[in-house]
Amino acid sequence: MSRIFVMTNHKGGTGKSTSATNVAFGLTQVLRQINAPKQRVLLIDTDSQSHATLVTTGQADYGREESLYTVLMAERQAAASVMMDCITVSHWDDNLHVLPASPLLEGAERELIGVPGAPYRLAHPLHQISQHYAAVVIDTRPSFSLMTETALLAATDALIPIEPRYLESVGLQSVINKINDIREGWRHQALQVNGIIVTKMDKRVRGHVELLESLQEHQVLGQLIRGVIPVNEAVAYAHLSVFEYDARCAASQAYAELVGELGKQMFARAGA
Ligand SMILES: Nc1ncnc2c1ncn2[C@@H]1O[C@H](COP(=O)(O)OP(=O)(O)OP(=O)(O)O)[C@@H](O)[C@H]1O
Ligand SMILES: [Mg+2]
Repeated sequence: MSRIFVMTNHKGGTGKSTSATNVAFGLTQVLRQINAPKQRVLLIDTDSQSHATLVTTGQADYGREESLYTVLMAERQAAASVMMDCITVSHWDDNLHVLPASPLLEGAERELIGVPGAPYRLAHPLHQISQHYAAVVIDTRPSFSLMTETALLAATDALIPIEPRYLESVGLQSVINKINDIREGWRHQALQVNGIIVTKMDKRVRGHVELLESLQEHQVLGQLIRGVIPVNEAVAYAHLSVFEYDARCAASQAYAELVGELGKQMFARAGA
């Protein structure tokens, strides 16, 4: 099975969408450089705010016939082919494909209440088509909602972006508990906590440095730090990937390191 990364944190504004889009794009660049047998990466946006969709496709108002909403509402036998039809190519790179979110996702959770198998309506069709992709990256909304459970049930590797603030690190344990609950309680054994991405790190702020140090020293959490992304204007203003906007800035280099690490993991496990 392809690696299916999910960016998750119920706290808002921690860098989920920024990390999802840049990691997905970065993986396409690495896969092309090494001439990998599969070079396409699929980005799935499960957040009705559609930020990841907007930056990677230039459009945020996907609707009833052309988005993740369409897949969730499709007849189950047709869902995989509906998914293929809804996937669009990003203007960032031909190898970056996007299953767009839709503002309609806001109401989808209500519409799906009581529908048998509702939480698996992304996982099942995705697993039928994921072999077309070297990797999948899923962006989630800032809540522990049905839509987030749907994303976690489809994924293999959870990445948790957090800001270097005290309250964020307190909330971190509840994100990890949620992921463990999906693995153990829902018996989705393929899902693991891959790691933590510390975002918007400002070394000039003492609180940031202290928090990062305490995370690094933590016996369990310290091992889970996959990347530390500096706070950077290029990220805040870029409608391009940060690599395209300014390949030399510290945030690009930090995302490139993170992508390199995830790429290494992908090939180590696939034996490719
Ligand atoms: N390294 C960074 N440096 C500066 N700004 C950043 C950085 N990473 C993210 N941002 C900015 O922080 C804001 C929140 O980031 P982003 O949208 O990625 O978070 P999110 O977790 O997806 O938010 P939400 O929970 O609302 O979906 C955005 O304005 C983004 O441009
Ligand atoms: Mg977001």
